[in-house]
This record gives sequence, structure tokens and C-alpha cells, in this order.
Amino acid sequence: MKILKECFRAETERLRQSWMRHDRGTLRDYLVRDVEDPRINVQSILTRHFLVERLFGERFDLVAEQELRFGLVVNWLLKLLKKSVTVGRLQTVFDALLTGRPDAEGMQIPSYVSETFADLMLPNYICDLLNWVPVETTEAPIPEYLMSTFEAIWSEVLAGEQPQSISVLEPACGSANDYRFIETFGIARLLDYTGFDLCDKNVHNARGMFPHARFEIGNVLEIDADDKAFDYCFVHDLFEHLSIEAAEAAISELCRVTRRDICAGFFNMHVGGEHIVKAVGDYHWNTLSLVRTKAVFERYCSGIQVIHIDEFLTSEFGCADAHNKGAYTFVVSL
Ligand SMILES: C[S@@+](CC[C@H](N)C(=O)[O-])C[C@H]1O[C@@H](n2cnc3c(N)ncnc32)[C@H](O)[C@@H]1O
Repeated sequence: MKILKECFRAETERLRQSWMRHDRGTLRDYLVRDVEDPRINVQSILTRHFLVERLFGERFDLVAEQELRFGLVVNWLLKLLKKSVTVGRLQTVFDALLTGRPDAEGMQIPSYVSETFADLMLPNYICDLLNWVPVETTEAPIPEYLMSTFEAIWSEVLAGEQPQSISVLEPACGSANDYRFIETFGIARLLDYTGFDLCDKNVHNARGMFPHARFEIGNVLEIDADDKAFDYCFVHDLFEHLSIEAAEAAISELCRVTRRDICAGFFNMHVGGEHIVKAVGDYHWNTLSLVRTKAVFERYCSGIQVIHIDEFLTSEFGCADAHNKGAYTFVVSL
């Protein structure tokens, strides 16, 4: 432990400074907006499903599939809104969906949108998404009650469930970026969560929002926990910001403190055999090699499922619209 501390001391300090330069308001909001909003971000959705599956096996698979579809539909709509789609245009899309036409006056409707629409009872949230605009503009954000469609569904279907004694660790939790939805979706009360982050402004934000949850200041390069202290672990968007040596040390630490499975999200990975190292200011913005990163986990684990988000969405939903082609999620069994 002491050796590890010594060799990563300078990097730890630089990492801390990289995040501490943001104010608390920015840290609270900037990673939960737009396509990063954990309600519609596929990797965040998969992480919540990882937890629900650890709690209940396959019982809620149907809800989980519908939630992924919801995420895809909202991401598709967000893209249209960014291109300043008109209210009239949305109406033609709506008419096409109602009458089962594949295109709306020349605009192709993705099959995952029409299939999802056809699967839902009428009226459904897609009707609302295309019709909510009270005035002749599409510039206003999608209303919160629509963005939270699956928050309402999950908290209702999980309402009668009893807490279980499973512990979950989230390193680099930011300002409870994912936890805030794990909480409002009704999942947090069913498990024993601990989050930590190097940046104390994040930890203060998280504690301010959730005074009864466990958030600590901590370093993934030297986790303050016994071996196998947690049943499960999940982590998002951390490893690319570390030097390669530190990323390997972080993986080793996660595997040390976790007893069963880890769900790890990467935002910048490629299939090439070498890492592409890019220092940006005081931290990194690396493109990690899939094979090399997987090999590091394999030193410690018994099995690993690699999910390339783009391929997953294409094969499962016929959706070729993933906004980040470099996004991967690993589900690691120790
Ligand atoms: C890109 S943000 C991701 C935050 C959150 N996981 C999410 O996906 O929204 C990276 C986070 O890692 C934290 N971090 C960076 N180095 C760390 C370290 N050595 N130990 C713990 N947290 C670290 C930062 O403070 C920041 O909150």
C-alpha cells in the first residue's frame, strides 16, 4: 500500500486539481445533462439493470428492455430537436406512427422508434413526446415528467420489494451523478451503497443532496477498504482520465475490494491493440485498448462480458444511432 501511495502521489494531486478547478454548481450539473442524463444514457441504464439483476435475477427483464427503448427514443428525439425540428414536423412523425407508415413526408423513422411505438398501449409516452409542445416551438426542453417516465415505472414496480443485504461500491461517483437516479428509481433503498470521489466538492454536493447516503472522499488508487469488502462495484468514465499505470492500479484495487461482480463503463475505447495516450492539462483523455484493458481485468477475474454499446444497440434494437462509438461496458465476474 505504501509503495502505491508513493508512486501515485503526484498524479493523485494533479487529478484532484483537475476536478477541483470547477465550481460546485458545474460539478453538480455538467455530467447529467443532454445525452449524459442518466435517465437516457445507455451505460447508466445498463448499470441500473446490473443492480436490479443482482437483486432480482431476470424478474424485471421486460421493464429493463422497455427502458432501453425509451432511452433510444428520447435520444433520437433530442437529435431532432437539436436540428430545430418544427412542431409541424413532429406532428407528421406522430401521424406516420399512428398509421404505421415508415416515413414522415420524406423523413425516415428509425425502426426502433416505430417498433417501440407499436408495442406500447395508446396513448403512450411517445404521443406525449411528440405532442407536449404547448406553443409553436420545439426549443423548450423535454418536460421533466416525460424524462422521468421510467423513474415512475421503476419506483412503482420496486415499491413492494424488501431491502437485501448486498453492498455496492461506486468509485469516482462525482456529485452522485448516477446515484441520484438509483435513489429516485427506488433501487438505492434495496441495497447498501457507498460512493467515493477524489474531489471533495463532489462529495459535498453528493452529501448535500443525500444526507443519509454514504459518500466519502477517497482515491481509487488506494481504496480505503478491506479485500472483498463489497459485493458489487460499478464505475463510470474514470479510467480514461488516468495514466495507464494508474488505470491498471485502479483496476487492481477494484478487483481487490469487490467480492462478486463489477460493472465498468468506458467512454473512449477502441479495438486496437495499443492504448492511445493523450495528456490534457493535468489529467488524461486516453483512448484505451479494448484487448489490453480486458487483459488487466483478466489477471483478477474469472469471466468478463464486453458490451460495445454501438454493437449492442444495433444487434438488439436495430439502432445504429449510438452517439458515442467508443463507449464500452464491461461486466466482470470475480
Ligand atoms: C468524468 S468524471 C465521472 C463522474 C461520474 N462517474 C459520472 O460518470 O458522471 C470523473 C470523476 O472521477 C473522479 N476521480 C478522478 N480521479 C480519481 C481518483 N484517483 N479516485 C477517485 N475519484 C477520482 C473525479 O473527481 C470525477 O468526479
